[in-house]
Amino acid sequence: MRTELNTIRTTPILSVTAESPTVKTFTLKDKNCAKARPGQFLMLWIPGVDEIPLSIMDTENGLVSVSVKQVGDATRHLHHMRQGETVGVRGPFGNRFTETSGTALLVGGGTGTAPLLFLAKRLQAKSKRLAFVVGAKTKTELLFLNDLNSICTEQSIITTTEDGTYGLQCLVTEPLTKLLAENKFDMIYTCGPELMVSKIFALAEQRAIPFEASLERLMRCGIGLCGSCVIGKYRVCRDGPVFNSRRLREVKDELGIWKIGFDGNRIPV
Ligand SMILES: Cc1cc2nc3c(=O)[nH]c(=O)nc-3n(C[C@H](O)[C@H](O)[C@H](O)COP(=O)(O)OP(=O)(O)OC[C@H]3O[C@@H](n4cnc5c(N)ncnc54)[C@H](O)[C@@H]3O)c2cc1C
Ligand code: FES
Repeated sequence: MRTELNTIRTTPILSVTAESPTVKTFTLKDKNCAKARPGQFLMLWIPGVDEIPLSIMDTENGLVSVSVKQVGDATRHLHHMRQGETVGVRGPFGNRFTETSGTALLVGGGTGTAPLLFLAKRLQAKSKRLAFVVGAKTKTELLFLNDLNSICTEQSIITTTEDGTYGLQCLVTEPLTKLLAENKFDMIYTCGPELMVSKIFALAEQRAIPFEASLERLMRCGIGLCGSCVIGKYRVCRDGPVFNSRRLREVKDELGIWKIGFDGNRIPV
């Protein structure tokens, strides 16, 4: 770990874009995080409030973007911040997705779509075919549809909403059985709620398709020291957040079942 990456750099928010009623994208200038690869995350310090882990959603010309859902104290404060206000950044941390040159299926749930959009932009140039399944509770919470439409062909995107306001009315996992029966994929990537990840992992295992998932655990240090992000023998911040099939098999007794809470006790996922 380079010390430079773990030193907080303060930087102004360059732009704020509303993606949905609960998700905003923040763009910052940071030369280290701008070198990140899809799958990596940064620790964002919101002055006087907290420091939180966020997947990197895009990088361009020294800039880095993260898309953040308002869920609690830190994310609420961040959502109230404006262009020009200062935050702090550490990172990039963690490993990255393996970028296949074959056919790829990407499945994103909620803000889990953010790191997959970054990955899809990379795969666009090298992979044979991309299919994207993206889901949300309702139409207004579906993320990055315009970006996905410009990366994948129209037939390669399936959208789902739980309330049926857009696309298929079902969970994002539901169209996968048919899609996997009718198409050959060399790799499946996913990021989103852990129950979703474990369901898709089971489908990939049944068909022996290589699989990678970006996992979320509570994180404090982000660099493998505090132990708050453990899963099995791994620390998600240091050994992940991207886990492949082999590692997921090793942690299957915990995946989608429990994690460590802020008080150090096990809590259901
Ligand atoms: C590797 C990684 C990448 C992530 N990427 C994104 C992203 O791209 N966009 C996004 O919106 N969210 C992302 N998250 C989740 C984000 O870190 C939490 O939503 C945020 O920390 C919540 O802080 P809060 O104070 O607003 O909420 P809190 O009031 O602290 O908690 C609300 C809920 O958020 C979760 N949470 C709280 N703190 C953490 C923490 N330190 N680490 C993980 N989960 C936490 C808990 O499950 C809790 O129930 C990511 C988490 C990890 C581990
Ligand atoms: S967040 Fe501290 S070990 Fe992973």
